[in-house]
Amino acid sequence: MRITMVGTGYVGLVTGTCFANTGNEVTCLDVDEKKIEKLNNGISPIYEPGLDEMIARNSKAGRLKFTTDKQSAYQSAEIIFICVGTPSDENGQADLKYVLAAAKDIADAMETAPGETGGDDNDRRAKIIVVKSTVPVGTNAKVKAEIGRNSNKPFKMASNPEFLKEGAAINDFNKPDRVVIGCEDKGTGDRLRDLYDPFVRQGNPIFVMDIPSAEMVKYAANAMLATKISFINEIANLCESYGADVDEVRRGMCSDSRIGNKFLYPGLGYGGSCFPKDVLAVVGMGLSSETPTKLLTSVHQVNQDQRGAFINKLETYFRGLPDTPGLAGKKIAIWGIAFKPGTDDVREAPSITIMQHLIEAGASVVAYDPVAHETCHEVLGDKVSYAQDPMTAVDGADALIICTDWDEFKNPDFDDIRSRMAAPVVFDGRNIWRLDTVREHGFVYHSIGRETVLGETGCLLNS
Ligand SMILES: NC(=O)c1ccc[n+]([C@@H]2O[C@H](COP(=O)([O-])OP(=O)(O)OC[C@H]3O[C@@H](n4cnc5c(N)ncnc54)[C@H](O)[C@@H]3O)[C@@H](O)[C@H]2O)c1
Repeated sequence: MRITMVGTGYVGLVTGTCFANTGNEVTCLDVDEKKIEKLNNGISPIYEPGLDEMIARNSKAGRLKFTTDKQSAYQSAEIIFICVGTPSDENGQADLKYVLAAAKDIADAMETAPGETGGDDNDRRAKIIVVKSTVPVGTNAKVKAEIGRNSNKPFKMASNPEFLKEGAAINDFNKPDRVVIGCEDKGTGDRLRDLYDPFVRQGNPIFVMDIPSAEMVKYAANAMLATKISFINEIANLCESYGADVDEVRRGMCSDSRIGNKFLYPGLGYGGSCFPKDVLAVVGMGLSSETPTKLLTSVHQVNQDQRGAFINKLETYFRGLPDTPGLAGKKIAIWGIAFKPGTDDVREAPSITIMQHLIEAGASVVAYDPVAHETCHEVLGDKVSYAQDPMTAVDGADALIICTDWDEFKNPDFDDIRSRMAAPVVFDGRNIWRLDTVREHGFVYHSIGRETVLGETGCLLNS
């Protein structure tokens, strides 16, 4: 099939490449000229394991192309996937300006396509416009209206929310737990089923449903996952107040098969380009329809507070230092910038909030991340310096803050870290180290929902 992906970001690039990999002719379109130029020079604009090789192979085979030429990308496609961003607007609602702009572009290209007949709506060859971006219920109808206003050519609408996870995106797309297709007629559902058939050979389901339900599935799934994270963070905070250990509580709780053990790790709260904005968008949908989403409003608040509480812990510790109280002038090492391991995405990453706070408080920040220095630099510029490796980052540091649970941080040379730091103080926002290990190595160690280890310099603590 001839496919055009509109928006060559984390979703459009990965899914377009995977569609090309199953033999389709794919054009990835973007308005960002630099991004397309990079891709045409064989450089991926994002870090995603396995992606570079797949792009190179499919580009070489002539099945995967990158362009900024809207007219030809839209006119040649049988199926167009809209994969542009849907960030929060100033009121927290999903901002549909990119989606609707793409719809207008599609209509204009269809209308001016040479040789294309008007056809009729039952034409099996009518273009299918698929909204893959995460959008509030009713957006497909808006896209349909926008295209209909600007073109008389036949087209079909479909919703196909994307469930890939950054860091495991290729595997998620190639072996999805499920594929969700929302459509208005059987023919469209069948054509999209054909497209997805190679990805569900192991029997995972393709659910074909009405468009509003398909739009809602994605929000419901993300809202549920975000709820699990806020839930365990709230329990972790109670554990801290009452001297319980959230790791033990988690183990005991998660062995109940009705609860399960996925997505119930306490930490700095969720970040990234999806959960924060998607939870807010659901809250916005509730407000617009006078169906308040009390639970999800709290999920969002708990998540915001989680970062604040962690920053308070830092502040309290540094304020309590007897000789030089406060963060001003301190050197702080950061391990992990990406919002989670496996990606260079720093959108809504807790690390960014924490580093901004440290900079404002007058601390100097040295950060290390295996892949996210460039993306961090786009946000924080030269306010932060970047270390070549985790050990250099901690040289002379007054504290180490762990923000992302990359595997390489999990079993480091603890003695080496200790000997390099000005003070052996660690704030672990991901609970990646065992309490007995840090105790043995003499660290002052703060984590989430667990006892604070006072180290050999317990008197430094203002607790
Ligand atoms: N990132 C994820 O893990 C993920 C997972 C599932 C769903 N989603 C959803 O998918 C959508 C896209 O997310 P993303 O992370 O890939 O976004 P992104 O910001 O990485 O990419 C969006 C791209 O669209 C381009 N664009 C904007 N307007 C355009 C236009 N009119 N024509 C062509 N290109 C245009 C931008 O230049 C950008 O490159 C969002 O709705 C998001 O919620 C994201």
